[in-house]
Amino acid sequence: MDTIKLNIDNTFNFIDKSKFADLEKEAAKKNQQVHTKTGKGNDFVGWVDLPNNISLEEINAINSSAKQFRKDKDIIVIIGIGGSYLGAKAVIDSLSGNFDVYGNNTPKIVFAGQNISEDYLAELKEFLSDKSFGIVVISKSGTTTEPALAFRILKSLLEKKYDKSELKKRIIAITDKEEGALLKLAKKQGYETYYIPNDVGGRYSVLTPVGLYPIALAGFDIEKLIQGAKNMFVETNTTAQNNIAIEYALARFLLYNHNKTIEILANYEPKLNSISEWWKQLFGESEGKEGKGIFPASVNFTTDLHSMGQYIQDGKRNLFETVLSVKKSKNKLVLEKDKDNSDGLNYLSGKRISEINKMAELGTNIAHEKGEVPIIKIDIPEINEYYIGQLIYFFEKSCAISGYLLDLNPFDQPGVEEYKNNMFALLGKEGYEKLANKLNNNK
Ligand code: PA5
Repeated sequence: MDTIKLNIDNTFNFIDKSKFADLEKEAAKKNQQVHTKTGKGNDFVGWVDLPNNISLEEINAINSSAKQFRKDKDIIVIIGIGGSYLGAKAVIDSLSGNFDVYGNNTPKIVFAGQNISEDYLAELKEFLSDKSFGIVVISKSGTTTEPALAFRILKSLLEKKYDKSELKKRIIAITDKEEGALLKLAKKQGYETYYIPNDVGGRYSVLTPVGLYPIALAGFDIEKLIQGAKNMFVETNTTAQNNIAIEYALARFLLYNHNKTIEILANYEPKLNSISEWWKQLFGESEGKEGKGIFPASVNFTTDLHSMGQYIQDGKRNLFETVLSVKKSKNKLVLEKDKDNSDGLNYLSGKRISEINKMAELGTNIAHEKGEVPIIKIDIPEINEYYIGQLIYFFEKSCAISGYLLDLNPFDQPGVEEYKNNMFALLGKEGYEKLANKLNNNK
């Protein structure tokens, strides 16, 4: 089997190669700290060993439950926010056909609990009212407002339609093993429940039931996904040179020290858009603290070349680009010759669309390099479970090393907690009275 590949050659036009070589040992130490659980936030590095620790029995249990749960349902609603939905969505969107959502295949997967829009929830309720649906509710803390709201509303819709025993067959809960409102509710109602390991935080939880259950529900091969991650575990659990997680983390770190404070993740395949959303959370929440961190942004090319292209080429020179470059398309589509050639495209006839896309990618890279945008390239042989599994683990590992290079804890999210607490106080939740007074006085 092939692997994803990293190319950082272009960054050496911007950063000092000898400095990179000097720091490689230091970065390798950070990588070891991740594996030996001796760095900051070491009670949240359980994700490192997930690909090796998950047993075939666990995979089979998820697969057979998901197979059963899919039955007789038009729609399955995955409820969760942040790390409790972005990973699953990233994998499902990458592996699904671009127009599957309009096809006749069922069940369809929809997401909720990732916003507090009244219109979103009211329209979802209306949409589900005449459909057979099930809910997978995911929350590690079990107390996050967005998913809790969505769950209450959709659960009540189910309660109106079904008796208690049918209801139990239509709800799956994924939450903490020891505490939280969702755990209590799941126990009381007897929902089938899967657990998130204590030592794995939300944004690193794709390879736990948080990601695996919805991905299996969507009909994808979670065993292959884990195999890909396992392969990347082996590739990146080494102090040898050419460890791609170390190289990526170090190149980013040196670019950051060179005033390149924004990283844009670019793709040329619309299916990878949700990977970028997941990646933004992973790096943004892990690195963006203590006044430090690269700001993670994303673009979908060639679409966004017609909107963001100008800025990237010519705006403030504080950015660099990481390109997800997919080698092989799933489909084959060749441009035919047109006898009139009134659109002037006959010079492309006989070419595959993917060849034209590749030339757009190459042309863009050359232009951006000329515009002083360092380019990091990640080559993905093709989009399937195995390579997406590799990509996920590669980014998780690189992100942890990056956090350690910045000398911070990449596994907490104090900023997220702050907004949650403010919202609780402003909404009058019990126990938040003091904070509410303070906030109201500052209004
Ligand atoms: O990565 C994280 O830890 C966060 O984004 C959480 O996943 C998010 O806040 C949702 O939390 P919970 O799963 O507890 O509802």
